[in-house]
Amino acid sequence: MIPIITIDGPSGSGKGTLACRLAQRLGFHLLDSGALYRLTALAAKKQQIDLVSPQVAAIAEALNVRFDADGAAFLDEVCIDSVLRTEQTGAMASQIAARADVRAALLARQRAFAKAPGLVADGRDMGTVVFTDAKAKFFLDASAEIRAERRYKQLIGNGLSANLAALIEEIQARDDRDRNRAIAPLIPAPDALVIDSTLLTIEAVEAQMMDFIRAKGVIT
Ligand code: DC
Repeated sequence: MIPIITIDGPSGSGKGTLACRLAQRLGFHLLDSGALYRLTALAAKKQQIDLVSPQVAAIAEALNVRFDADGAAFLDEVCIDSVLRTEQTGAMASQIAARADVRAALLARQRAFAKAPGLVADGRDMGTVVFTDAKAKFFLDASAEIRAERRYKQLIGNGLSANLAALIEEIQARDDRDRNRAIAPLIPAPDALVIDSTLLTIEAVEAQMMDFIRAKGVIT
């Protein structure tokens, strides 16, 4: 049995950062499942295919993607990491992520990331759909305002432009779509540890997660 840790939550809850830190700390592989939805949306856009077209699922299935050792994403061997992380791409990803055919097309690809010595998977449905047998499941949350603020700093830090008021609105719109969709909505798995990180530092959240990971016997 390959040990799997799932981290679900809305955008800006800190799940990406924590997934990265835990994967490094434990020497586990990392799955950024949101990147696959983002890449699918970008691939459709590149081929000028409408996001509501049935062809999007075929694009998801055939996605020619690879991540380098630093986690940078390559689509058809072209590095597209800067476009991948924009809010616009996030909104497109959220749109196609509401579709059952697209989600089904990405399922096997996501599960293939589960390799020894272990996996940390981050997304919206890692604990509820993709890795239901995961040994330790987390659901990270935080207020929309603080998530927008974190996102703002992250975008500026990556040299991208950002507007805080617009970000709060975008984050709320994306949350509504992700939480209220019929298929694989963003909800905590019944056996997930829910952590609200609004008032917590990354280090404090990581410490809570490590305690739970030990308690669940993922590591000794
Ligand atoms: O985590 P992210 O911001 O990169 O995700 C982009 C969008 O993809 C997000 O708004 C919803 C969707 N997504 C999803 O539906 N299921 C996942 N496991 C990961 C992301």
